[in-house]
Amino acid sequence: MSTERQHTTSTHIGQKSSWTHPIYTKDQILAVRTAHRQAHTWQDKVALVTVRVLRWGMDFVSGYRPQATNRNGLSRGYVMTEQKWITRFIFLESVAGVPGMVAGMLRHLKSIRRMRRDNGWIETLLEEAYNERMHLLTFLKLAEPGPSMRFMVLGAQWVFFSGFSIAYLISPQICHRFVGYLEEEAVITYSKAIQDLENGHLPAWGSLEAPAMAIKYWQMPEGQRCMRSLLLYVRADEAKHRDVNHALGNLDQNMDRNPFAARVQAQVQSAARSTGLRQLQGEDNQK
Ligand SMILES: [Fe+2]
Ligand SMILES: [Fe+2]
Repeated sequence: MSTERQHTTSTHIGQKSSWTHPIYTKDQILAVRTAHRQAHTWQDKVALVTVRVLRWGMDFVSGYRPQATNRNGLSRGYVMTEQKWITRFIFLESVAGVPGMVAGMLRHLKSIRRMRRDNGWIETLLEEAYNERMHLLTFLKLAEPGPSMRFMVLGAQWVFFSGFSIAYLISPQICHRFVGYLEEEAVITYSKAIQDLENGHLPAWGSLEAPAMAIKYWQMPEGQRCMRSLLLYVRADEAKHRDVNHALGNLDQNMDRNPFAARVQAQVQSAARSTGLRQLQGEDNQK
């Protein structure tokens, strides 16, 4: 990743956005890999088990099946179509936008309450929430959720916002580890979608261009504006969230400075080195 943040997109009133997305190069988005941080402590294990349970629930809601990439011998209901992927993405992103906002809000309130500086965590957390909402808004350009989907998102947000807020007040360290594991799953999900697309299982996306707002947000260059590129950009964001949250989960929540506060683009490399992440090999990739 570039070590200097680039601001080239302006808002409609001509001012720079606070959270203009850094420009990813083609090599950077192609270099993203699934990875897993081993659960060492009981806190890690609590976070990992919680994510596994939630993953099961999300799979159920979005009709996701791990065998989706292989159509041979499978009934029509087990094939992941473009519509099923979009449904999964929308549900996933509607949930993913919650933790950063809750964590940023609670740290903001704590800073005010205790009349102390925050050590630079708030901006990174709120930027993550903004980025997740941009993922959601992008996918909403490709599908219109029906009433049942909207009801599920509503219920999930109510439960997740409440639960995550209480959990963050009790143990922010476990919550950042939880988000790290959640983002591991997000990277796996987008990797499988990209694999499906590359294998020709999603023909409607083969020649589809990314929505205009996505091209503007990620500053996608000419020749890299197809659906595959969009999924690669989103996956790179998820990998950054994964590495950042695992790194934040390693820190003293009250005393340590956020190492990503000044140079967000350096997150992936520096965070991956400090979190003990190991890239998944072979069958692990299919989880
Ligand atoms: Fe996302
Ligand atoms: Fe994410």
